[in-house]
Amino acid sequence: APPAVPSPASKPALTFDLIAKCSTTRARASLLTLPHGPVPLPIFMPVATQASLKGLTPAQLEATNCRLCLNNTYHLGLRPGQAVLDSVGGAHAFQGWNHNLLTDSGGFQMVSLLKLANVTEEGVRFLSPHDGSPMLLTPEHSISLQNSIGSDIIMQLDDVLVTTHPDPARMREAMLRSVRWLDRCMAAHARPHDQNLFCIIQGGLDLDMRRECTAAMVARDTPGIAIGGLSGGEAKEDYCRVVAAVTEQLPDGKPRYVMGIGYPEDLVVSVALGADMFDCVWPTRTARFGNAVTKNGVLNLKHARYAEDFGPIEEGCGCVCCRPKEEEGALGVTRAYVHHNAAKETTAAHLLTMHNVWYQLNLMRQAREAIIADQFPAFVRRFFAGLYPEKS
Ligand code: GUN
Ligand code: ZN
Repeated sequence: APPAVPSPASKPALTFDLIAKCSTTRARASLLTLPHGPVPLPIFMPVATQASLKGLTPAQLEATNCRLCLNNTYHLGLRPGQAVLDSVGGAHAFQGWNHNLLTDSGGFQMVSLLKLANVTEEGVRFLSPHDGSPMLLTPEHSISLQNSIGSDIIMQLDDVLVTTHPDPARMREAMLRSVRWLDRCMAAHARPHDQNLFCIIQGGLDLDMRRECTAAMVARDTPGIAIGGLSGGEAKEDYCRVVAAVTEQLPDGKPRYVMGIGYPEDLVVSVALGADMFDCVWPTRTARFGNAVTKNGVLNLKHARYAEDFGPIEEGCGCVCCRPKEEEGALGVTRAYVHHNAAKETTAAHLLTMHNVWYQLNLMRQAREAIIADQFPAFVRRFFAGLYPEKS
């Protein structure tokens, strides 16, 4: 007989209000209210792995309009460690961030960063990157760490495969194990009244396996639902097929988070397929390589052609860097200045990080406004025309 589905421990620590649905695609606009304030969806969430977004102070992150960002359980669990987190009262206090936090459970980082991680039914075994000692991350330990971190959204530990074409039997084992680990995470969760545990749907690129996993996860009635196991370099068609098959089966009344997605095209397409939340290190990482994300594509400001370009990073951008200096609090940064600094100084990286995060958040805000105005398809056409003018 199938295992009994455990009932949720208590009512969720969030509210989710659906505001509008696109009449031709599956795009949704909604308002997610978390313990540290409201978050309009769809949204992009920047990644502050080590309790800081590389190059930004919390105040600068706030100035990008960010109200929900990611931290990583595994990194914070190692340093500053659970004892420090407990004594300071969690990661919000530790990093001086009064808005929302989401933590990933740590297993994915282990498996993707340290190729040496080894998964058993107990948990993820790996060697400490600090001193090489053997460590074991179990569902219970991940939840205990996330309870100490105090993040508004916490993620289940899942069994993630990093290869695009895994053995189907191993894929099925990982999918079923992820369901069993969700049950262990729910049982271990000590703060359901102020932290929301999200499940993570696995099953690779096999739609039947995805559907089976979706049914099992939805039955467990978590406050939000994530789709994992993508963002691994799969073909776009496969990605879209999986997201569409899963969202088709999801209830309307819960937030849907596709993990590890962040290219602007992927965000817009995923919103059209019915997803609401996304995260990725790409926009902030690429900023550190001198790249500006804009409505006309990615510009590498290290290129010589920008040496005497005294225009803003992106014409019309509302971020603190791009708005003209005459405006209150604005920096009026020029491409030439970023170009000049991009080779050696970290200033260019800080400025481009602010611009890129603003761009991603603004893209999702525009998508939301278009959905509410019932003009989402026109928004999608305008967005792709900006990227590929020759094709439109
Ligand atoms: N980040 C990107 N993909 C995944 C995933 O499948 N699981 C987890 N836990 N984190 C992710
Ligand atoms: Zn800008």
